[in-house]
Amino acid sequence: MRITETADLWYNNAVIYCIDVETYLDSTGSGTGDLHGITQRIDYLAEIGVTCLWLMPFYPSPRRDNGYDISDMYGVDSRYGDHGDFVELIRVAHDRGVRVIIDLVINHTSDQHPWFKAARRSTDNPYRDYYVWRADDPGDTSDQAMFPDEEDGIWTLDERTGQWYLHHFLHTQPDLNTANPQVRDEIAKLMGFWLQLGVDGFRVDAVPFAINQRTLVGMDEHEFEEPHDYLRELRGFLQRRASGQGSAIMLGEVNLPHEEQVAFFGGENSDQLTMQFDFFTNQRLFLALARNDAAPLAEALRSRPTGLRIESQYANFLRNHDELTVDLLDEDEQDEVLDAFGPEEDMRFAGRGLRRRLPGMFNGDPRKLKMAYSLLFTLPGTPVMFYGEEIGMGENLDVPGREAVRTPMQWSSGKNAGFSTAKPSQLSRAVTHGPFGPEHVNAAQARRDQSSMLHHITRLAKRYRESPELGWGDVTVIDTEVPQVLVHMTTWENRSMVLLHNLGSEPTIVPFALEDLEPGTPLVDLLSEESCELDEDRMTRMPMDGYGYRWLRVANEDDHRLL
Ligand code: GLC
Repeated sequence: MRITETADLWYNNAVIYCIDVETYLDSTGSGTGDLHGITQRIDYLAEIGVTCLWLMPFYPSPRRDNGYDISDMYGVDSRYGDHGDFVELIRVAHDRGVRVIIDLVINHTSDQHPWFKAARRSTDNPYRDYYVWRADDPGDTSDQAMFPDEEDGIWTLDERTGQWYLHHFLHTQPDLNTANPQVRDEIAKLMGFWLQLGVDGFRVDAVPFAINQRTLVGMDEHEFEEPHDYLRELRGFLQRRASGQGSAIMLGEVNLPHEEQVAFFGGENSDQLTMQFDFFTNQRLFLALARNDAAPLAEALRSRPTGLRIESQYANFLRNHDELTVDLLDEDEQDEVLDAFGPEEDMRFAGRGLRRRLPGMFNGDPRKLKMAYSLLFTLPGTPVMFYGEEIGMGENLDVPGREAVRTPMQWSSGKNAGFSTAKPSQLSRAVTHGPFGPEHVNAAQARRDQSSMLHHITRLAKRYRESPELGWGDVTVIDTEVPQVLVHMTTWENRSMVLLHNLGSEPTIVPFALEDLEPGTPLVDLLSEESCELDEDRMTRMPMDGYGYRWLRVANEDDHRLL
């Protein structure tokens, strides 16, 4: 691998960090976070080793779904600032070597969007066909509602025109008719606008819904010939617009099994989504953690699609801004994960997930937490963190729904956790309290404490960045007789790393063989002094602490990196 390639395909070993503008840093004392607040924290993020920000929706919105219900896709919610603040943020981020991607919601708008307001005026309104309508009663569709606690189906009757409109999410989020060429043009124009302002790509929301052919049936005029052509079209557009300023990405939310994700990458042509979150591995990882058994995770890694081009990349995550979904697991497995990490009803969301952050789920066990983040940075792909994970923030279950994990960032132990100078009653969301409250968990304190999660993540990010074989490589799971330990190897061209993670709380010794290497090959630990080498039988026995982890680089004379 040439070092230049790591610049062209920058996303293959980026460190991505997701921010909810609402709750990151309030620079005006209004009680709500804002863009300028984020700009003030770019240095903090760059110091951790973050190389790409993902900004959650900051557009004008009635905020029925935390801003994912957008009423003006070209706008900036005035509570967060204006386009000037946005451009300043991009400039400062780029100056510090941090790219910026933004949420692109193509599946739906808010019902307050001018398109929808016009569309519901009459059946022959020019905007009618921007959305999906049906004249006949859809019957019971409750099994398809994404928010079953709030909606009893995916079609809502519009009284004025007497027809039903489609919404996979809330009824205040009507689905766009992405089969309509006019809608496609609108979305391309929108992407062009934000690219021109300097963004480096998009996190594309709810992709399978947006190109779902089944729910568009009946739209004879605009029926998709091949739904994936649309993603291909968007990628082509992105490529043309972004050429010259470095590659821009589409990181898609596709919560589907591996084999179904292949089509969303564009198969071996790699001409659709640049990246996809690996939901399957995420869920198998939590199953593995619930069982203290590496097998479910090993299976997930083995089932990763092979034969994809290097342009297609997986994004790994532990937690995100949504509930921890377990919907790709069998029912029994789902119960195992929910029981292990969310024993109380209040910790669950819509029966299918957990509205918790990791430290709460692990009862604050720092060893287990550190091991989990080591896994995040060593699973082949690009790590994505949610704000606050780097300091070990917990959830606030007093806050309803999924907002429990979207509480204000804890900067200090001071007033409102240093998030805002407003009165606590004016905060847009309450600060977490209890064992993970700001007096125990905050960024200022973590910076001073060498053993903090913040320092741990910073160290991992550094070693990850200088080891592109982690982000780029092909993965092999290495057999070992210790069930609680995952041993995997990532290889890119002639560079390899061997990673060990003990999911169990007890120390152990892990024997394993690396058949393809020469006897005597040194394995150099990048995180500690304890290195080793393969014996005559190409074996080694690695002692591991409870919840221990090791990053071993296979020493190679052609490799000029520092060891
Ligand atoms: C995605 C977002 C989620 C949102 C939904 C509808 O799943 O991650 O937060 O509610 O799309 O836009």
